[in-house]
Amino acid sequence: MAPNNLTSNRAVKMLNAAAQGNYGVLGVVSYNLETIVACIRAAEAKHSPLQILLFPWALKYSPLFVDFAAHAARSAKVPITVHMDHAQDPEIIKQASQILAVDGTPAFDSIMVDMSHYEKEENLRRTKELVALCHERGIATEAEPGRIEGGEDGVKDTAELEGMMTTAEEVDDFVATGIDFLAPAFGNVHGEYHGVENIRLDYDRLASIHKKAQGRVQIVLHGTNEFPADIMRRCIDRGVTRINVNKLVLSEYNDYVAQNTGKVPLTQLMEKGTDLIQQACERWMDNIGSSGKA
Ligand code: 13P
Repeated sequence: MAPNNLTSNRAVKMLNAAAQGNYGVLGVVSYNLETIVACIRAAEAKHSPLQILLFPWALKYSPLFVDFAAHAARSAKVPITVHMDHAQDPEIIKQASQILAVDGTPAFDSIMVDMSHYEKEENLRRTKELVALCHERGIATEAEPGRIEGGEDGVKDTAELEGMMTTAEEVDDFVATGIDFLAPAFGNVHGEYHGVENIRLDYDRLASIHKKAQGRVQIVLHGTNEFPADIMRRCIDRGVTRINVNKLVLSEYNDYVAQNTGKVPLTQLMEKGTDLIQQACERWMDNIGSSGKA
C-alpha cells in the first residue's frame, strides 16, 4: 500500500492490483495518435489495464495531444491512465500537474519526477518538493534512484551521464520523499542493448530493492527495448509492476511507416500502423499477464 493518501488514484490502484496479482501492466511510450488509439483498442480487446506514457515533449508539441490522451483514457471501457514519463524540469512538472481533463480531474494520473541528473542529496530534496506539489492535486509520482543509463527521444538529452545502479539503502531515502513508484537502475538501459546477449540485469539487486520497498512503493521497469518474454517474467517475479515499452511495441510500426510512406495513402498508413501497434500490445499483454485483469 502506498504510504500516502493516494489510495483512490487510478494509477496507484492499478499497480497495487498488479503487485497483488503478480502480473505486469504495459506503460506504452506514445508519440502519436496512432499509438494511443492502438493502446485503447488493445486494452479493450484483451480486457487489460494499461498506462499511456507521454514524454515532456508532448507538452511542447501541443497541449491538444495531452487532452486527446486524457480523453481517450477516460472514455475507454477498461482502466487506462496517463503518465508523464521522465519529467526532468520542475517547470514542466508544475505545468503538467495543472492540466485538467474535461471531467475536471488532473489529465496526468501520475508524473515521473526525474531528478536523476542531480547528485543524490539534490535529487532527494527536489523530488520531495515536487512530490508534495503533485500529491496536493491527487497525482501519483515516480522517481529514479541511481541513474538508468542512456537517453530517449522526447526527453531532455542526458544520455551522456553515466549510469549508477540503485542500492537497497537508497530505497528508504526515496520512499521518504513520498513517491509512489520507484524506477530502479539494475543494469537496464534506455535505448539500445545491441543484442539480447548484452542485456545483463542484476536480478539479486532488483529482488533486494523490492524486498526493501516492502510494498510502500511499486517497482516500475524502464529500458526494455529487445527484452524477450522470459526476462520480463523474471522481472515481474522480482516485484516489477508497470513495464515501460517503446520499441517492443513500436518497431514493426516504425518499419512499416519507413517502408510505405509516400507509397500508400496516408489513411492506410495510419490504419495499418495502428493495427501493428495494437497487435504488439496484445502480444505483450498476454506475455506479462495483464490480459483479462481489467
Ligand atoms: P526504452 O525502452 O526505449 O528506454 O523506453 C521505455 C522506457 O523506459 C521509457 O521510460
